[in-house]
Amino acid sequence: MKLIMALGADHAGRELKKAVKARLEELGWAVVDFGVADEVEKADYPTVADAVAQAVEDGRCRFGTLVCGTGVGMAMAANRRRGVRAANCTSEYMARLSRAHNDANVLTLGERVVGTGLALSILEAFLAAEFEGGRHQRRVELMS
Ligand code: RB5
Repeated sequence: MKLIMALGADHAGRELKKAVKARLEELGWAVVDFGVADEVEKADYPTVADAVAQAVEDGRCRFGTLVCGTGVGMAMAANRRRGVRAANCTSEYMARLSRAHNDANVLTLGERVVGTGLALSILEAFLAAEFEGGRHQRRVELMS
């Protein structure tokens, strides 16, 4: 599958989103940027999250990454979409296990919670991990 990432942030996640976008492009990912643009003073995280989640749900993008102040609102909003499993991660361990056990397809990050270096390590851990299937497959299916 082509490596396409849907990316979005509200005003509180805008700076970290720029760093995430740069790292994704270094890693060879095509990025579809759902904003918000620098000109937008305040953005509603549910609106951005839903646009990114929809792109993952309908298969336009393999994964999504969303950034807000905490990552919490973005995860809540993205998880309203069928087939979307958004994980708010604050460590590489959470990121790896969110893929390996939960088959997460959207990563959410909090710009006010994690520094840029840690956030990029979390992103890379998320991308490097594979869903293990097996007993985890049935549990993931129980969520849908
Ligand atoms: C914006 O102030 C903040 O509420 C938002 O970015 C996010 O943290 C919500 O979950």
